[in-house]
Amino acid sequence: MAIIGTDIINAISFLQKDELVAIPTETVYGLAGNAFSTKAITAIFETKNRPSFDPLIVHVADAEQLNDLVTEVPAAAQKLIDAFWPGPLTLLLPKSASIPDFVTAGSKLVGVRCPDHPLTHQLLQQLPFPLAAPSANPFGYISPTTPDHVAKQLGEKIPYILDGGPAGIGLESTIVGFEDNQAFVYRLGGLSIEALEKIIGRVNIQLNVSSNPKAPGQLKSHYAPKKKFLIKEKEQFNQPQKNIGLLSFQKDYQFQIQKILSPSGNLAEAAANLFTYMRALDESPVDEIWTELVPDMGLGKAINDRLIRASAEK
Ligand code: TXA
Ligand code: MG
Repeated sequence: MAIIGTDIINAISFLQKDELVAIPTETVYGLAGNAFSTKAITAIFETKNRPSFDPLIVHVADAEQLNDLVTEVPAAAQKLIDAFWPGPLTLLLPKSASIPDFVTAGSKLVGVRCPDHPLTHQLLQQLPFPLAAPSANPFGYISPTTPDHVAKQLGEKIPYILDGGPAGIGLESTIVGFEDNQAFVYRLGGLSIEALEKIIGRVNIQLNVSSNPKAPGQLKSHYAPKKKFLIKEKEQFNQPQKNIGLLSFQKDYQFQIQKILSPSGNLAEAAANLFTYMRALDESPVDEIWTELVPDMGLGKAINDRLIRASAEK
């Protein structure tokens, strides 16, 4: 069983032996390994049960570390780095030869991100290599936002979970790439479209759904609980049902088993609670879970994206 602790030296020693460590970030917990090591990368795919066509994000301590990892940083990407790193923004950039092909699933682009968490920042600063890290959950399930979530699902398979407390943002990073001098958002996440557009102007949103997506976070059914998860109109919440768990945005509908994302209607609070509440309802003794969409603005867009994917037919 994994040890849960705050000992960076311990985490470093596992990572240097090509073993995996779960790391805290401001978005969700990551399952991290040496991005330059075949052994560590293979272990990441096996531990998550992740298909090999799904590329990994490479995490760096600061923008300077990018120099060895990518061959080009477009002007718009540099503006976003200056504005939002460290933070919940992943950039797709042309990879250098130092990144193994299987990290990017054969793509010429690598996803890079500088996480905003003090423990993980120290860890990355002290390591002689960047960390490849997908979210620390079995493929397709809800991402973990606490060490306990990680321990429950992957605790038997990894030696150490670095405990940085609950994730502050609670949604995965926003993924941005560049084609023909235009910016494209491939995954909605912890950085809002509005915030991006303030820095670089209009961005295109391309959340494709296909069998071979650019980012499997775009798969129609993803981030999903095991129980049936249904988006309903509020009117249907007026008659509380015993065997149904309710995940509501703001209002108390008097269900016996219910979670309210943000009683004050704050979208950042709703985002921080989303995955923890989805898990709690999934583990509670109900037959199915009902939910509603939240206001479609700011972080609400990414919350709605996750709710819709969680409710898609598997
Ligand atoms: O917030 C986050 O991004 C978290 C924390 C741990 O950093 N990580 C995360 O990783 O969510 P993961 O692997 O669960 O989701 C990363 C998404 C996947 O859908 C993957 O397909 C996409 O990013 N991705 C990564 N590298 C890519 C690349 N080179 N080209 C296209 N998509 C890429
Ligand atoms: Mg994931």
